[in-house]
Amino acid sequence: MTTHGAEVNWAVIGTGFISQSIADDLRLTPGARRQAVCSRDPDRARAFAADRGFAVAHGSVAALLDDSTVDAVYIATPHSTHAAIAIAALEAGKHVLIEKPMAVSAEQGRQIARAAAATGLFAMEAMWMRFNPAYRDLVAAARSGAIGEVRSVRASFGLPFGPADSTRWTEERASSTLLDQGIYPVTLALDVLGRPSRIRATGRVRDDGVDLTVHATFEYEDHRFAQLSASMVEYIEPTASASGSDGWMTVPAPFWAADEFTTRVGSIARALTEQHRTHHERRGNGYVPMLEAVTLAIAEHRTEHPTHSLADSIATLEVLDAVRHSLSSPTARPKETR
Ligand SMILES: NC(=O)c1ccc[n+]([C@@H]2O[C@H](COP(=O)([O-])OP(=O)(O)OC[C@H]3O[C@@H](n4cnc5c(N)ncnc54)[C@H](OP(=O)(O)O)[C@@H]3O)[C@@H](O)[C@H]2O)c1
Repeated sequence: MTTHGAEVNWAVIGTGFISQSIADDLRLTPGARRQAVCSRDPDRARAFAADRGFAVAHGSVAALLDDSTVDAVYIATPHSTHAAIAIAALEAGKHVLIEKPMAVSAEQGRQIARAAAATGLFAMEAMWMRFNPAYRDLVAAARSGAIGEVRSVRASFGLPFGPADSTRWTEERASSTLLDQGIYPVTLALDVLGRPSRIRATGRVRDDGVDLTVHATFEYEDHRFAQLSASMVEYIEPTASASGSDGWMTVPAPFWAADEFTTRVGSIARALTEQHRTHHERRGNGYVPMLEAVTLAIAEHRTEHPTHSLADSIATLEVLDAVRHSLSSPTARPKETR
């Protein structure tokens, strides 16, 4: 028995960087047991299980989904595989927590939601930022008028993860800075300003269709706006801010994982000289709040978590679809020149 009165046997699908971080944070999560891992390479699965304290190692996704000791799976594979693995897992009777983006389009997201509804199992996209205590406080403060009427959001996630010609990124894997990094700035804009009435996007897109850098402007009623950027090939200061009629809030780098933010309000003189800091202690690699919330939800036989519902994910995917559409329109898609 744990503090939650029930244990969930977790399995991780894939053995990449994020699987390792999640595995470490599952160790810190009340009610979560590290039950199984799978890799396409059985030796890699065995090594991962031994290193990270998982009971069982499987050499394929199918073998893991056949394992009756597994209650829930964390899907940490390339974007293009998420929907098929999630639907197969649900049909095999497993609860699913799916790395972001849950799917590569809103239509695929709806297919996952239909499969989840048909099985009555828990399903959620692993949008961990939304469970981060500092992020939750920031969104709550913005919504409650701490900076007056929110007028604009600026957020960027640009880090050089590889060279522009990296062979690690392929269209087949749905490699995309919009899907990988851009989902965080977009989620912040949706949380603070809501759904935009118009989207304009430009960016740097490889000949094979992989977007490397994306800049988007979201426009809202009454001239409110968001300026968002993402890149996997260059630095774009990875911070965020929300500005309103009475002041602004600033989130330091990396904003999607920040444990604090500052608020400045009042007259110009006061806003420029005084700031209020909100801070929370980070737990593990930062995924513990999400893993704890999901483990508890599963133990309580819930099918979704209110902090990030399937409808929330589908709404975000609809906006990402629209950004991609704007990016690929003839005037908004400058092809990379070599
Ligand atoms: N939340 C975060 O902070 C965070 C950070 C980074 C990435 N991510 C997300 O995590 C996911 C994985 O990203 P990544 O960059 O780690 O991807 P990746 O390295 O390409 O793939 C992750 C793992 O998935 C397995 N895999 C690869 N292709 C597969 C396939 N076709 N079928 C089944 N398994 C396959 C591989 O493990 P085996 O070789 O052992 O099979 C690989 O190590 C993405 O959704 C990404 O957006 C999240």
